[in-house]
Formats: sequence, C-alpha cells, structure tokens
Amino acid sequence: MRSRKLLSASLFSSTLAGVLADTESRCLALKDSLHLENTTILEVSYIAAPTNVSAAGSCQSSAPVTYAPLCRVYFVVNTTEASAVHAEAWLPDTWYGRFLGLGNGGYHGCIDYIDLDYGTSLHFASVSSDNGLDTPFSARPFLNHPEVINDFASRAVHVEALIGKQIVSAYYGVSPESKIPSYFLGCSTGGRQGTQAALKYPEDFDGILAGAPGTDFNHLIGWQGMLSRFVGATVPPDLNLNPVANDTSPKYLPRELWGAVSEEILRQCDGLDGIVDGIIADPDECDFDPSVLRCTEERATDCLTAPRERALRNIYSPLYGLDGELMFPRYAPGAEADPAAVNIFGGSFWILASEWEKYAILNVTEHDFTHFGLKDIALWDKINPGGIATWDGNLMEFRDRGGKFLTYHGTRDQLISPTQSKRFYSLLSSTLNQSSSSLDDFYRLFFIPGMAHCAGGLGQSSIGQGTHEGTNLVNDSSHNALLALVDWVEGGKAPEVIIGVDGEGKERVHCKWPERSRFDGAAFVCV
Ligand SMILES: *[C@@H]1O[C@H](CO)[C@@H](O)[C@H](O)[C@H]1NC(C)=O
Ligand SMILES: *[C@@H]1O[C@H](CO)[C@@H](O)[C@H](O)[C@H]1NC(C)=O
Ligand SMILES: *[C@@H]1O[C@H](CO)[C@@H](O)[C@H](O)[C@H]1NC(C)=O
Ligand SMILES: *[C@@H]1O[C@H](CO)[C@@H](O)[C@H](O)[C@H]1NC(C)=O
Ligand SMILES: *[C@@H]1O[C@H](CO)[C@@H](O)[C@H](O)[C@H]1NC(C)=O
Ligand SMILES: *[C@@H]1O[C@H](CO)[C@@H](O)[C@H](O)[C@H]1NC(C)=O
Ligand SMILES: *[C@@H]1O[C@H](CO)[C@@H](O)[C@H](O)[C@H]1NC(C)=O
Repeated sequence: MRSRKLLSASLFSSTLAGVLADTESRCLALKDSLHLENTTILEVSYIAAPTNVSAAGSCQSSAPVTYAPLCRVYFVVNTTEASAVHAEAWLPDTWYGRFLGLGNGGYHGCIDYIDLDYGTSLHFASVSSDNGLDTPFSARPFLNHPEVINDFASRAVHVEALIGKQIVSAYYGVSPESKIPSYFLGCSTGGRQGTQAALKYPEDFDGILAGAPGTDFNHLIGWQGMLSRFVGATVPPDLNLNPVANDTSPKYLPRELWGAVSEEILRQCDGLDGIVDGIIADPDECDFDPSVLRCTEERATDCLTAPRERALRNIYSPLYGLDGELMFPRYAPGAEADPAAVNIFGGSFWILASEWEKYAILNVTEHDFTHFGLKDIALWDKINPGGIATWDGNLMEFRDRGGKFLTYHGTRDQLISPTQSKRFYSLLSSTLNQSSSSLDDFYRLFFIPGMAHCAGGLGQSSIGQGTHEGTNLVNDSSHNALLALVDWVEGGKAPEVIIGVDGEGKERVHCKWPERSRFDGAAFVCV
C-alpha cells in the first residue's frame, strides 16, 4: 500500500514536471517562431512562480510586481519609419480563452505591470504597451514626431489588439480565424483610448471598460490648464510634479483656505443625497455659494478676498470658449479635497497642458505660460494633433457589431470633471438618436460616489476596475466591472448596478446613469 502510494506520487510529480517543462519550452519557442508584421520579438521568458519582474526598455523605474505562472513576451512594432510601440503580452498558464488590451494614464509611456498582473490574475491573456512613448512621463517624444502622436492618439491600442491577438493565437494554438473574446480596460487616458478604439477600430474589442474617460482631449487638458491659471499659476512643475506654490498671486488659495472651502461645500451640499457622510453623490446638484467665506471684520483669516472668490467662481463654473460654446464642464465641488488636487491648485501651471502646448502644438522646448488662455485652446482645437480630440458620438459601427461599452466615473474625481461623462452620454444619445433606455443595449455609465480619479478617494470605490492595486476586493461579476463586462459580452447579462466595496468590506450599490444614488433612510437606492 505504502509503496504504491509513493510510486504514484512520484509518477504524478514527474508528469507535472514534464507538463511544466513543455509549457516553458512552448513559451521560449515564441522567440523564433513568431513572424508578425513590422514586429520584432525582443525577449521571451517563462515565469514559473510569483516573483518580482523588472521593467523592460527605458522604463526601469517602474515598480516590481508579482504574477501568476505565465509566458512573458516583450516586443516592438514599427508602426511607421518614425514611430514604434513597445509592448508586453502576458500569457497565463491557466487561460480562460479571453484577450485583454490595456490602457495608459496621462503621458505615462511605460508598460503597465499592475494591470498585466491584474488581467492575468483573472486568466486573461493580457497586453500592455508604452503608448508609443517609451519614457516614464513626458510628452517630449512628441516633439517634431507627428507619428508618435498618432500612436499616442489611437494607433498603439490598435496595434495591441492586432499584434497581441496573433501572439495569443499562436501561443495557445487557436486558429487565427476563430474569434477570441476581446476586452479593453483603461482609465483616464485609458478611458479615452477605449472610447477612441470603439470609434476608430470598432472590430478590435467586443467589450470595453473605460474609466473616467479623458474625452474631448484638447478641451480637457486646456480646461485643467485654465483651472491652474485661475489661482494664478504660470510656471509648470518638474516632471516629478513637485509643485511650485505661488503664494505671491492674490488669487492663490493657501492649503488651510482650501480646507475651509471643502468644509463649506460639504455644509451646503453633503445632505443633498439623503445622508451626511462626507460624500456628494452627484456634484452637479451642488450649487456652492462661496460668498459665505468672504473676509469680514470678524473673519479676517482663512477667508476669501475678492480675487480668491473670483477664482473659486471660475473653478466651479463651466468653461466657455471664445465663440461662447461650452468647452468643458465645471470642476466637481468636493473633489478639491482630494490630496492630489494639489497638482492643479497647488500653484504650478498644469503639467499636461504645458507639455502638450510645447511638444505637440508649438514644437518648442521652452514656453512662457503667463498668458495662457482660451486662444491657446482654440489653436489646439484647430491643430488637434493626431486627431486626439475623441469627441464624436458615432458609435454606430461598434454598436451594430455587438460591442458592449461599460464606463464609470468617480464623483470626487480631482482631475477630470465627472460631469464630462454625462456630456459624452448626451453627445452619444443625440448622435445616435437613442434615449437612455435603448443606449442601455450597448452603453452603460455608472457614477461611483466618492471615488477619486480612477480609484481610491472615499466610499466604496473598489469595483474591480484595475489601474491601481487592490481594486478587486470581491471577485465576482456583481462586484467586479471587468467580470460584469464578460457576462454582458459572452452571456448577454448586462449589469443593472455595480456593487462597490471599501477596505473594511462595506458595500454600496452604484447606479446606472441616469438613475441617481439616494439614501432612503435605511439603504442606498437608485432612483
Ligand atoms: C524597426 O525599426 C528599427 C529602427 O529603424 C529597425 O532596426 C528594425 O529592423 C525595424 N524592424 C522591423 C521588423 O521592421
Ligand atoms: C517583491 O518585492 C517586494 C518589495 O519591493 C517584496 O515585498 C515582495 O515580497 C516581493 N515579492 C516576491 C514574490 O518576491
Ligand atoms: C507596418 O509598416 C507600414 C509601413 O510603415 C505601415 O503602413 C503599416 O501600417 C504597419 N503595420 C502595423 C501593424 O503597424
Ligand atoms: C507642430 O508640429 C505638428 C506636427 O507634429 C503640427 O501638426 C503643428 O501644426 C505644428 N505646430 C505649428 C504651430 O506649426
Ligand atoms: C505667481 O503669481 C504672480 C502674480 O500673478 C506671477 O507674476 C508669477 O509669475 C507667478 N509665479 C509662479 C511660479 O507661478
Ligand atoms: C429619432 O428617433 C425617434 C424615435 O425612435 C424617431 O421618431 C425620430 O424620427 C428619430 N429622428 C431622427 C432624426 O432620426
Ligand atoms: C478570481 O477568481 C478566479 C476564478 O474564478 C481565480 O482564478 C482568481 O485567482 C481570482 N482572483 C482573485 C484576485 O481573487
């Protein structure tokens, strides 16, 4: 008995070792066996057990991460003679037959290992690219390189899908004709990339999860630049975002005064959603009146002088262009309390605007931002480098081929006004002549009360959205937006609500627009 047991145990482990060796050699063989358009396979490695990886290319500074057993393929695609996209495909041993393309944030031009780890933990074959930049954070690669801008604006994600799917088919032995269910996940710039993919390359993805999409890009970045101008900033920070506090401008609000502003905003608006909990479920319902904080004889410190009050009125009003047209919705009252709002209001001119103006618009390395204003944004509109605007509601092709689009936006987003997601929804609705009940067939928008930009903030903001570590706290399709999207695409079961979770395990139902979240005295409901 005893010896038989030992025998079978050792037989088993030698079989397992054989399978593993086979998986590894199948992986390593990709180095020479893959012959794909304009593509060089730079490195292939098999990772047997969770460990820390080092980043590829010029992005050595990105953090190490751990991952599941998988085959790692690092490759570069020459998209033109003057541009290239570097990317990695992570091919998990346990594959559920799905493809996942991943997005980027801001001008981050590195492969996103956090999302590769996340996608493969859910058994997607996952691909992430450097968005054509191959540099940690800068728009400098755009300078006199319009093809690099084209990659950044839309082509990098298309290449992820096009080349990535071929790598996946080759590795798992799936015939190139058989369609692998394909998904995209991204937030911020990634949300814009997902929107752009649906507009320009509607066949690339069956399901798109787009968070806090940076749509209407030129206006968005210009608006953020204007926000920093409203409080007097003129000089951009360094690329590490070290803010230059400008307390010499009469419009500048010191940190303590921002604290008083946030407190007053909550005093006026926190209860509008039925509960005083520090979270404003819909900032558009908040008609914040700053005059309460004016300097008076009794209140001589932490108070609003006329220039500061004007600054706040500008910040919390929509931005209109020189032609009087709405350029971008207002800043969300309450979002200024997020610590990262300092990047806009801390006294430095907004970095994304300064980089865009220099390297994509004016084609210079130095520029004086003292007079930055609406006329600059008008020029951005006119040039619209790479067709980056992403302001088009014609998702007809994506809709008609059965694509599903799931989008979410935090109501305490300190960088992109959540109202912008309503604005895109209206554009879509009027372009397609569809009301929300029929848009629901392929496009669903969820607001996440309290969530900051893409993740974190207050409340129950973990919904399996990726892009930050620890967003998948409950691993099922009612709590995980990516898995909900899979159910929608593959099972025809669309999400009615998404249940968010926080670090303490508390849950909250998040509502599908145009339903709103209300506390009815006992629980949060969607009305
Ligand atoms: C891509 O471009 C680089 C640099 O110009 C060149 O060395 C390489 O051969 C090209 N690779 C392919 C597959 O075209
Ligand atoms: C990866 O590195 C971190 C420190 O950066 C360490 O805490 C962690 O244990 C490492 N994980 C593995 C699996 O080696
Ligand atoms: C390959 O390169 C050619 C010439 O630069 C280009 O037209 C084509 O779009 C490229 N294909 C891919 C997949 O990048
Ligand atoms: C700067 O270069 C881009 C192409 O990279 C071009 O579209 C733009 O018009 C140029 N800007 C000016 C002010 O000439
Ligand atoms: C600070 O504000 C003053 C007055 O508006 C302006 O002249 C100066 O250039 C600003 N400095 C910085 C670093 O933004
Ligand atoms: C929009 O849809 C409505 C209802 O389906 C229809 O009556 C109307 O003719 C449509 N308008 C346009 C411009 O297609
Ligand atoms: C989620 O569930 C799948 C099985 O459905 C499992 O393989 C995976 O490891 C889980 N991921 C996390 C993050 O718990």
